[in-house]
Amino acid sequence: MDYSIQKHWRSYQEVSWIKANVGEQYRKVGYDASSWPGTPPEVLEDASIRGLLWIAVSGDRAVGYVRAERHYPYLHIEDLNVLPEFQGYGIGKALLGELIDEARRSRSPLISIRTFLTTPWSVGLCKRRGFKIIGEAERPEFLKAHLDSEERSGLPLAHRCTMVLNLQESSRPYEVTRGEPLQPFASYPAAQIFQSTIQRG
Ligand SMILES: CC(C)(COP(=O)(O)OP(=O)(O)OC[C@H]1O[C@@H](n2cnc3c(N)ncnc32)[C@H](O)[C@@H]1OP(=O)(O)O)[C@@H](O)C(=O)NCCC(=O)NCCS
Repeated sequence: MDYSIQKHWRSYQEVSWIKANVGEQYRKVGYDASSWPGTPPEVLEDASIRGLLWIAVSGDRAVGYVRAERHYPYLHIEDLNVLPEFQGYGIGKALLGELIDEARRSRSPLISIRTFLTTPWSVGLCKRRGFKIIGEAERPEFLKAHLDSEERSGLPLAHRCTMVLNLQESSRPYEVTRGEPLQPFASYPAAQIFQSTIQRG
């Protein structure tokens, strides 16, 4: 699977459809995602302008993206989605890798994400990259609004968790996706800011 990671795209509507398309994946594990909020194109475009959007492109299609928000000292992952037919090729890991690089470049020591405890593809992906589930008492203040919004949208809060990667504590290597050998966080070189091309066989 050949793909590249881009920081801008010709149509943010197309990027927005990626999230809409993962609904079927949730249905298969018993969730009705139809009331869950989408991410509007203008929010994606704004994130792109601020350098907080990474889009995976295969052929002439946007097939996945990760979007973050800054809440210093956190870089919070708002969305991480890959079209079902493009899953399992390492695109999710590559997008997460770009975001981790950005956190290091911008000296954000903590990366957070809200995710499902119950879906087979989410907690494991983050745990294997060094994220840890945190309890309510450790939850950063900015997440209160996120939880309220999740509740209003009908997301089952009891099935959800907050995970945090502490880059200062973690000496764990993460898998980079450019065919380079594994390196510990501290020694990973800064990547290009606007675009990096990833060729996978
Ligand atoms: C999570 C998601 C982005 C992963 O994208 P992807 O391109 O398939 O991910 P990758 O191919 O890089 O695989 C990442 C890891 O997840 C595992 N994985 C992928 N799909 C899986 C599945 N359906 N069940 C179990 N594990 C799965 C891979 O084996 C891989 O494992 P590794 O960490 O041991 O290498 C994608 O499944 C998705 O869009 N899910 C719906 C949205 C979502 O849940 N987002 C929040 C994620 S925290």
